[in-house]
Amino acid sequence: MNARKRTVVLISGRGSNMTALIAAATDPAYPAEIVGVISDRANAAGLGIAAARGIPTKVISRSDHVGKEAHDGAIDAALASFGAEIVALAGYMRILGARFVEKWQGRMVNIHPALLPAFKGLDTHARALRAGMRIHGCTVHFVTLDMDDGPIIAQAAVPVMVGDNEDTLAARVLKAEHRLYPLALGLVAEGKARMEGGRTVLAHFADDADNGTSVVMAPDPLREETDLEHLARITP
Ligand code: GRF
Repeated sequence: MNARKRTVVLISGRGSNMTALIAAATDPAYPAEIVGVISDRANAAGLGIAAARGIPTKVISRSDHVGKEAHDGAIDAALASFGAEIVALAGYMRILGARFVEKWQGRMVNIHPALLPAFKGLDTHARALRAGMRIHGCTVHFVTLDMDDGPIIAQAAVPVMVGDNEDTLAARVLKAEHRLYPLALGLVAEGKARMEGGRTVLAHFADDADNGTSVVMAPDPLREETDLEHLARITP
C-alpha cells in the first residue's frame, strides 16, 4: 500500500466532521491519516475531541495576527510542521486568502451542507426549506478562490420530509456529511479523485454500471435508508 496521506483538519467549532474523519482514519487501511487539527478559535469544541483521540492540535487565532496574509502564513507554517499533504476544511469559518488557496489547490477539500452549486454560503438548510426543495444534501469539493465553488468530488442527497424544520433537516444532512466526508477524503488521498484543469477527474468505479438505474426520489419512496456511499460514488 502507498503511504497514507498526511492530512490536517481545519476547524472553527463543534468538529463533528473532523471526528468522522479521525474515526475513519483509525482504520490502518484508510488512505489518509489525520496528523493534526488546527482551529482559529481557542474555544472550538472540536479541539478537546481531537486531543482526547491523541491528535495534536494547534490554535492559530486571527486576533494574534496582523491581517489575513499573516494569519494564513501562520497556518501554512503549522501545516508544514505537521508535514501536511492534504488539508481538510471541516466547519472552518474563515475565508482563506488567494495565496494560500493557490498553494494548496488540488490538495485542499471542504464540506458544504448543500448540494452545490445550490445554496452556497450560510444558512443553507433554512434556504433549502424556503425554496421548497424536496431533496437536499451535502457536497465535498476542492477549494478554489471563489467560496463554495470548487470542483465537486462527491455528494450525498437526503429527502426533505414533510414537517421538517431547520434543525431536523440539518441533523439529517449532518448524518450524511459524516459518511460522505470520509469517503471523499479517501478518494482524494488514494488519488482516485484529482483536480485537473479546474475539474475533478474521478477514477472509474466498477459499479458505474448502475448509473442508468439509480434514482433518488423524494418524498416518496425515499426514506432515510438510502445507501449514501453508493450514491456518492455515482454522483461525482
Ligand atoms: C457542517 O455542516 C459543514 O458542512 C459546514 O459547517 C458545519 C460544521 O460542523 N461547513 P462540524 O464542526 O463539522 O460539526
